[in-house]
Amino acid sequence: MTYRPVTQDDVDRAPKWMRAVPLRADQWRDAHTRAIVETDGDDVVAVGMLWTSRVHGDRYWSEIAVDPARRRRGHGRAMLAHLSMLRAADIPFMARGYVDEERLSFCRSLGAHTIQIVPPAEVAVAQRVALAAHPAVHGAAERSWDELAAHNTEVYAWTHAAWSPVGPDFADALNEDFTDELDLEASSIAIVDGRIVANCLVYHDSSPPVVTAETSAADTPDGERLVEGCVRRSLDELAARGVAEAEFDGHVSDPHFLPVWTRLAPAGRWFHLVEVPAAGGMGPAVDSPHG
Ligand SMILES: CC(C)(COP(=O)(O)OP(=O)(O)OC[C@H]1O[C@@H](n2cnc3c(N)ncnc32)[C@H](O)[C@@H]1OP(=O)(O)O)[C@@H](O)C(=O)NCCC(=O)NCCS
Repeated sequence: MTYRPVTQDDVDRAPKWMRAVPLRADQWRDAHTRAIVETDGDDVVAVGMLWTSRVHGDRYWSEIAVDPARRRRGHGRAMLAHLSMLRAADIPFMARGYVDEERLSFCRSLGAHTIQIVPPAEVAVAQRVALAAHPAVHGAAERSWDELAAHNTEVYAWTHAAWSPVGPDFADALNEDFTDELDLEASSIAIVDGRIVANCLVYHDSSPPVVTAETSAADTPDGERLVEGCVRRSLDELAARGVAEAEFDGHVSDPHFLPVWTRLAPAGRWFHLVEVPAAGGMGPAVDSPHG
């Protein structure tokens, strides 16, 4: 068995099983973006990828797929070991999946531990009557895009600090598509003393719309009730348009969003983000992993 970089030809000719990973040619961005295949003669047996997020630089995302005819023979584990040697920075891997998926069984067998959990995410908009309105809540359209993006940056940084800290220049990458993807009318903000202190952001680039919410700081006074009011207003806006379902996106560690979320009788599967330890050494060191 040998390993070689993924070429554009591999991408163009990839069989269906290889498309389980977001296939790109090797080093599509820089030394922190690798794509490798394991071959047996002319046959591709497995594919493995690693890359850093432009928002977080603390772990490599990784994806592996093995030819279905060759599974449970150690190719997946061997690919992880090979990817470990290709790392340009000495940081572990990260992967994700629904709690009952085989990908997480595979990760756990490699020593993974859970770093974050996303609760069941499907929320019926009609459940919004469980939440109270709040007088500090307004439509997001009342403030400028710059203010909204700055608030989004604040919220994102502190809600990820304890388990996946942001990199130094994360804000540009985070807000790259903000104006295209945010549903300004349905999004809500709480304003106290002239400042945005909480939000409920609705993204209309997917269906059902994705909903996030939190305060500008971990210790924002009255945070839970402010988030509750923001979510109530956003769901009212969606209901007025006849939207019946929303997909919530957040974490069990979000102190103000989670209590509100749980009151909406969400349905669906639990989702885990896991850290997978690298196996052994790494490649030659290069500059910062932040791409
Ligand atoms: C997940 C995947 C990459 C595993 O590849 P593989 O070559 O079969 O994995 P290995 O043979 O190295 O398995 C190593 C261990 O992982 C666990 N494992 C692998 N597949 C599993 C499955 N379907 N169910 C439960 N455990 C599994 C086992 O503990 C296994 O050890 P064992 O066979 O001695 O019990 C492969 O099933 C696949 O390509 N799935 C589709 C793509 C995918 O989900 N990729 C995500 C990976 S991040």
